[in-house]
Amino acid sequence: MPSVFVKTYGCQMNERDSEAVAAQLIAKGYSLAPDEKQADVVLLNTCSVRDSAEQKALNKMGSLVGQTRKHNPDALLGFLGCMAQSRGQELMDQLPDVDLVLGTQKFHRVGQYLDDLLARRREQVVDIEEEKGSESFIREHLSEEGDKSRAVTAYVSIMQGCNQFCTFCIVPYTRGRERCRSIEGITDECQELVKNGIKEITLLGQIVNSYGKREIGPKDGKSAFVQLIESVHQIDGLERIRFTSPHPKGYGDDLVEAYGRLPKLVENAHLPVQSGSDRMLNLMHRGYTRQRFVDLVGKLRAVCPEMGVGTDIIVGFPGETEEDFEYTLSLCKEVEFDNAFLFKYSRRRDTPAASMPDQLPEKLIEERHARLMELADNIRARKLEDYVGRKMEILIEGRSRRNADRLEGRTRCNKIVVFEGSERFIGQVMEVQIESTTKTTLYGRL
Ligand code: SAH
Ligand code: SF4
Ligand code: F3S
Repeated sequence: MPSVFVKTYGCQMNERDSEAVAAQLIAKGYSLAPDEKQADVVLLNTCSVRDSAEQKALNKMGSLVGQTRKHNPDALLGFLGCMAQSRGQELMDQLPDVDLVLGTQKFHRVGQYLDDLLARRREQVVDIEEEKGSESFIREHLSEEGDKSRAVTAYVSIMQGCNQFCTFCIVPYTRGRERCRSIEGITDECQELVKNGIKEITLLGQIVNSYGKREIGPKDGKSAFVQLIESVHQIDGLERIRFTSPHPKGYGDDLVEAYGRLPKLVENAHLPVQSGSDRMLNLMHRGYTRQRFVDLVGKLRAVCPEMGVGTDIIVGFPGETEEDFEYTLSLCKEVEFDNAFLFKYSRRRDTPAASMPDQLPEKLIEERHARLMELADNIRARKLEDYVGRKMEILIEGRSRRNADRLEGRTRCNKIVVFEGSERFIGQVMEVQIESTTKTTLYGRL
C-alpha cells in the first residue's frame, strides 16, 4: 500500500483535520511516510487566513513538484483545506502538476479520491462542493504516534464554520456556515479517547462557544456549549477540558460561572480582542465594545483569579489611526494578557475590509506591530516572573521540545513548564515548584 505525508498549515482545526485524514488513510492500509521525499502521496492541508500562510503552501507545492517527483515520478500531490476551498480550480490552473484539490467539507473523501487517482480512473480531482453532515466525519484519531506528547492530550472537533463575518476574515468563506455535531456524538468520541489514555481534551471550533446555538439551544438557563462541557466533564479519568477558539460574544454568564463550578474546566480563556478601539471594533464587525471586553475579563478573573487570558490582535486594519492604535496599546496595559498573538493585517480578497478606504502602508503596519510586540513581550515576561517560587499543578505531556533530556508539562492556565523527571510520569498530574523563567517558559522541580 502507498505511504502518505501530510503537512499542515494554519490553526488547530487544521491539525485536527490532518490527523483525521491520516487516520482514515491508515485504516485503509496506508503507512505514514517519515518525510515528503519518501512519500507516495503528499497532501498539504492549507490555511488562507493571511497571505503569508497561502504563500508558504504555494511555495512548498512548487518545490514538491520539482523535487518529490524527481524521486518518485508517480507521487500524487494534493491541496486540502482552506486555500483549496477558497481557490479551487484556480490552484490546478496555476500548478497543473497537482492531482487533487479538496475543500474543507471533503476530508472524509480523501481515500476514495486517492484510490481513483492511483488506479488512473481519474486524471485530476477538484471537489470543493458543500456536503451536508460533513462536520460529523472528523472523528478518527491516530491511535499510535511516536510523539509521546500526543498520547496525553487530544483535540476534538465539535463544529465547523462561522456566521460572524468579521470584515477582515476569510474563515466564513473557507469553512462555510456554522454546523455542529451532537452532544452524544462528541461525548462518545471523548470517552473513547479517555479509554485510550487521553487526559486532556481541547474542544475545537472556529467560534467554539456558539456551539449549538440554533440546533440545540439553551436548557435550564445553560447554553448548548455549557451543556456539552457538562456532558464531557462527567467522563471518568478525564483530567482537563480546554476549548478554542471562542469569541468574546459567546461568553455568557453561564459559561463564566461554569469555570467556578466545573473543576476539569481549566483556568484559561483565549479571548481574541483584535483591537482596543471601539471605532475599529465596529468596522471589524466584532459585536462587542472595548468596555464589554474589559468587563468580561473582569468577570472571568473574579470567578478564577488564576485565569490565564490570551488574545489575538490585528495591527493595521484599514483606516487605523495612531489614536486607534494607542487604544490597543492601552488595552494591553489595562488587561495584561498572559499571551498575545499579534498579526499584521492581511488583505483577503472578497472580504468587506479588502475594499475599505485607507489601506495602510506595509511599513506603518510593521512599525506598529513592532511597538505592540515589545509591549506584549514585556507584559508576558513580567507575568511569568510572578510564578517563580510558587507550586503549580501540571499535566505532564512528554519530553521537552526544547531539551529531550527533560520533561514538559502545562499548568491549568496554559503555561509550559520544563523540569527533570522520569518518563513514567508522562500522563500524570503532579505539582512542580517553579524555580526560574525565560521570556516564554517556566522551569521547575517536581
Ligand atoms: N475564530 C477565531 C479566529 C480565527 S483566525 C476567532 O474569531 O477568534 C485567527 C486569528 O487570525 C484571528 O483572531 C485574527 O486575529 C487573525 N486574522 C484573521 N484574519 C486576518 C487578516 N485578514 N489579517 C491578519 N490577521 C487575521
Ligand atoms: Fe473569522 Fe470573526 Fe469568524 Fe473568528 S469570528 S472565524 S475572526 S469571522
Ligand atoms: Fe487558517 Fe482555515 Fe484555520 S483559514 S486559521 S486553517 S480555519
